[in-house]
Amino acid sequence: MTTAPSAPRAPRTSIALPGPRAPMTPRALAASTAPVTSIPSATSMTSTAPAAPAAPAARGVPLGRADVEAAAARIAGHVRRTPLLAGPAGPELPRAGRRLLLKAEHLQHSGSFKLRGAANAVLALGARRIVTGSSGNHGIALARLAAPLGAEVTVVLAGGAHPAKIAVIKALGGRTVRVPGGVAERDARARELAEETGAVLIPSSDHELVVAGQGTVGLEILAEAPDAETVYVPTGGGGLLAGVCLAAYGHPVRVVGVEPAGTPRYARSLAAGHPVRLAPGDTVADGLRGQQPGAVPYPIIRDRVDDLITVSDAQILDAAALLRRRGFEAEPSGAVALAGAIRAGRGTGLAVAVISGGNTKTALMTAAAAGPPSRTHRTA
Ligand SMILES: Cc1ncc(COP(=O)(O)O)c(C=O)c1O
Repeated sequence: MTTAPSAPRAPRTSIALPGPRAPMTPRALAASTAPVTSIPSATSMTSTAPAAPAAPAARGVPLGRADVEAAAARIAGHVRRTPLLAGPAGPELPRAGRRLLLKAEHLQHSGSFKLRGAANAVLALGARRIVTGSSGNHGIALARLAAPLGAEVTVVLAGGAHPAKIAVIKALGGRTVRVPGGVAERDARARELAEETGAVLIPSSDHELVVAGQGTVGLEILAEAPDAETVYVPTGGGGLLAGVCLAAYGHPVRVVGVEPAGTPRYARSLAAGHPVRLAPGDTVADGLRGQQPGAVPYPIIRDRVDDLITVSDAQILDAAALLRRRGFEAEPSGAVALAGAIRAGRGTGLAVAVISGGNTKTALMTAAAAGPPSRTHRTA
């Protein structure tokens, strides 16, 4: 990779948490308030009042690039260093002249990047009884890790969770609990269960160790493509985006979060100046239905992200189909960043899109049939 970023800026090397809110850059603010695709009407929001922090105990704990580096050392041997692969080019991309690489986390063990944050938390905490709320992939990652360690995992899932993801969690030996409602109700039940049973709560994104683990995706990208101009990151609870933001401190790369148009919680929150909670929204990207920013990722994203953009379900499905034509098996959530890169269509330098998951129905059926990894073997 040889193209230098076209508009280098002063590297940022530290973040202040919790601190007063830094103003959003005009570029980011414009992106958050002027989506190309339709944003749900104001009536679909339950509230624009500040949301209750999901993890109050976590606030004020500083995280930095060093935490991501520590996570990389901790999880090496448990996760796969996924390749950066050539992305669509020429006529497949609406704007010619851009170079695009794909960070292939759909090839990660467990089928998604979620293994990174889950491994960092499980290993650092030495957790043996674990509870979580998940749309599926974080639960699959935890169940996969727990099996060889002899640990127990309970995964709370909201209505609308993918049945094949539930089947894989069970096949890996995890216990599942279904709750009516959306992600907020799911996460509340997981917190209750942890309190009732004394199990360790490992949230899917709102946790320092999870964010630091997800940041290893960013470390790998910047190590292999140091001249990347822009990285596109799918954004649900914000764990992956916050982690990539941490990894990008000290580097001039533009970090762009991509949300489904039906669930633009970060775009809305950054525009409002405080975390807002949305009504449960619908999107084909089942991993990106979170209703509010997490207390841990929010200030990191607010401080470092360059843009937040939204993509429609049709754009997500088009991106997934494009990947399929190139032999990449990505689930809809996993194709969101590519949809964002295609939609953005600007910049002449190197862009990287994180293909965050490959847990399609076919891949999940194979995983369910395979069952848990052996107790005597590590997950790598
Ligand atoms: C495949 C995939 N991509 C992206 C995300 C969003 O990640 P985060 O919640 O860290 O923003 C998820 C979340 O479940 C996911 O499963």
